[in-house]
Amino acid sequence: MNEWKPNIITFLCNWCSYGAADLAGISRFQYPPYFRIIRVPCSSRVDPRFVIAAFRNGADAVWISGCHPGDCHYIEANYYARRRFLLLRGILEFIGIEPERLFFSWISSAEATKFAETANMIAEKVKKIGPLRFFIKKEPEIP
Ligand code: FES
Repeated sequence: MNEWKPNIITFLCNWCSYGAADLAGISRFQYPPYFRIIRVPCSSRVDPRFVIAAFRNGADAVWISGCHPGDCHYIEANYYARRRFLLLRGILEFIGIEPERLFFSWISSAEATKFAETANMIAEKVKKIGPLRFFIKKEPEIP
């Protein structure tokens, strides 16, 4: 029997969380292969429209991860990202997508274990929520 595999779009800050993902891979820490990683210069680079576009194009969940407070290479940009994330969760709920499908974390490049643990936790949560059926793909019209 085919097990459902969630599609989780993951935006990782180049300076911290992407390094953690890299280190987790090098260290051979186990986490599910559901994550499509997109490297961004900073977590604040993730425009809310990117998140909506991800859901519209088949993502079951979106995960944004950046540097810890005080470690952002763009001073306090990750605070803006965190604030945007909270507002975005409200917008998702308003348009009918479970806000639990959006995740945010702060993971430094040395925290490979935390990266793998967070990835496992997210994968488990998304599997419990199930596939996103909000945006139903239209069948092409037959002329
Ligand atoms: Fe990593 Fe801003 S540079 S969150």
